[in-house]
Amino acid sequence: MSCPKVKLITTEDGSHSLYHEELQETYHSFHGAYRESIHVFMLYGLDAWLNRNPRKFPLRVFEVGFGTGLNAWLALVWAEQNQVPVLYHSIEPFPVSEEIYSQLNYTEHDHGIWHYHKYFQALHELPWNEGGPVSEYFNFKKDETSLADSVLYPADVVFFDAFAPSKQPELWKKEVLATVVDAMRPGAVFTTYCAMGQLKRDLKDLGLEVETLPGPPGKKEMTRAWKGV
Ligand SMILES: C[S@@+](CC[C@H](N)C(=O)[O-])C[C@H]1O[C@@H](n2cnc3c(N)ncnc32)[C@H](O)[C@@H]1O
Repeated sequence: MSCPKVKLITTEDGSHSLYHEELQETYHSFHGAYRESIHVFMLYGLDAWLNRNPRKFPLRVFEVGFGTGLNAWLALVWAEQNQVPVLYHSIEPFPVSEEIYSQLNYTEHDHGIWHYHKYFQALHELPWNEGGPVSEYFNFKKDETSLADSVLYPADVVFFDAFAPSKQPELWKKEVLATVVDAMRPGAVFTTYCAMGQLKRDLKDLGLEVETLPGPPGKKEMTRAWKGV
């Protein structure tokens, strides 16, 4: 598979994102990549799951779209700070090149977590399709594959971070979502920046309890959905 043609951009909170030239789409919200990831995935994903499951470890995360590695790196920081063992599985059919990921400024964004910067590099350098521990609490595997071809492991938290439905409708089809929902463990949570009505109806039809939550800065709403215990 080939590297995507992307351009480095700076979003409104000062953190970088990438602009995918062919799709004419950014990898994150233009209103702030870093803020979006913290809000949608860390706060409404990992924190929410931990609040409901304070002792059910290890926590298994499945991410659709490794991209820049921002979500994965913030999840690693979260695992270390909360001392929660995390098994993180990410998939990505179009890995970005070293020339691109080495320029990303995420580890400079919050000086309080600067000391985790070496792990950002480590997540990118870990060979594709091979898992392993990256830090004390974070075990990581990234597969170079698409959602349609991926092996899905049981997950407690799903970061559904595909490009928008208008750009990649095939990833948001109900039958595709069904494969992800099937892999969710009882009590698992699915979180995404997307607030589309059809997505919410499909997740509801697939048996999840769907919530519409306030979105990150610049976005009114986002979606979170729970599987019954
Ligand atoms: C919105 S970006 C994700 C950003 C990423 N989570 C991050 O933190 O940078 C969407 C990602 O999904 C990837 N992608 C594209 N087609 C895919 C597919 N069929 N299956 C899984 N991921 C896909 C893209 O290459 C891109 O990296």
